[in-house]
Amino acid sequence: MLGASERDPVVWQEAVGANVQDVDGNVFVDLIAGYGVALLGHRPPSVVAAAAAQANQLVHAMGDTSPDPARIRLLEALGELAPGELRVTLLGSSGSDAVDAAVKTAVLATGRTHVVAFDRAYHGLATGVLPLQAYKHAFTEPFAGLLADRVRHLPWGCTREELRAALAPGDVALVLAEPVQGRGGMHAPPAGWLQMIDEETHAHGALLAFDEIQCGLGRTGEWWAGEALGVVPDLLCVGKALGGGFPLSACLGTEAVMAAWGASTGEALHTQTFLGHPVSCAAAAASLRALVDGDIPAKAAQSSRFVRALLAERGFDTRGRGLMLGVEVGRDGLATSEALLQRGFITLPAGATSLGLTPPAVVTEAQWTAFVDALVEVCA
Ligand SMILES: Cc1ncc(COP(=O)(O)O)c(C=O)c1O
Repeated sequence: MLGASERDPVVWQEAVGANVQDVDGNVFVDLIAGYGVALLGHRPPSVVAAAAAQANQLVHAMGDTSPDPARIRLLEALGELAPGELRVTLLGSSGSDAVDAAVKTAVLATGRTHVVAFDRAYHGLATGVLPLQAYKHAFTEPFAGLLADRVRHLPWGCTREELRAALAPGDVALVLAEPVQGRGGMHAPPAGWLQMIDEETHAHGALLAFDEIQCGLGRTGEWWAGEALGVVPDLLCVGKALGGGFPLSACLGTEAVMAAWGASTGEALHTQTFLGHPVSCAAAAASLRALVDGDIPAKAAQSSRFVRALLAERGFDTRGRGLMLGVEVGRDGLATSEALLQRGFITLPAGATSLGLTPPAVVTEAQWTAFVDALVEVCA
């Protein structure tokens, strides 16, 4: 992602909690959590221990054909934490994988081929999911000739009529939304909007998927943003914080929807060499336990309240939900992010004049206070 560090790279040597240390010994507060991954903080001890123990026993198994105890434990834990009846899981390695699995599932389940997604959406950049993004035209444009033209983008917060018109042809397999939009600028949905999408999607025979790769697992102050806002989808994409720093993602669905994959006839219709990688699964099971034991959703909510109050006192408008924070800085976002990096804070721009923060839930009040002081100084 284009950020301050791309021009003047900080070479990461070590990271723990909310801190990153570079090869020159400079210490930074990471208010991005390594792209939203380190919700528990960097290098959470129980995750590191579980991964090390697993690596000493079984590093790699055989994709879809031979499950191992680490994967079984993870799938059970994820099923327990998932909202509603989302009990069947397709594992992947990246967020793109999870969204790809949701799209393929919807195509199988409905026999249709089109997807409705939303303006500023970001769902990953692998070829299968690239046409779903509307965050940056430049990401899609060079590959346009390769991409299926089967996506209808609607305004974020679209009206019922707009959605009905997009669904009317009867060819939409999936409506895909981030319940809280992340890379597209940290936007919480308008009140009642997710319910409206839910109603119209099902009234038109399509499936609803929420991409909670960034907003799920406690980041917004509740386990699942969609559920907290009143809607459990048919398919749920999870990633980032799931592996506690190790690469793992998941697409969860109901038994009825996932039945569309049918029984295996010898060779899996959807798999990967590293599917359910044992070390990532062991790390993810420990990560879920640490999220639960540490009451991370409550901590995220509390941390968000603290910094939003502090920012408001100093005259900054904020948006988003929980620890998906957009901060309006009233000047160039990239230049602001660069100036903050010089002062020891890792941030990213979000739109022309704001910052987008996805910090660890373990940022201390003292670190927040120092950040807000630095922001005031930069914006003076
Ligand atoms: C909401 C959302 N979906 C999907 C992705 C893609 O995940 P990955 O980069 O792991 O493929 C991201 C990454 O930022 C994301 O924020």
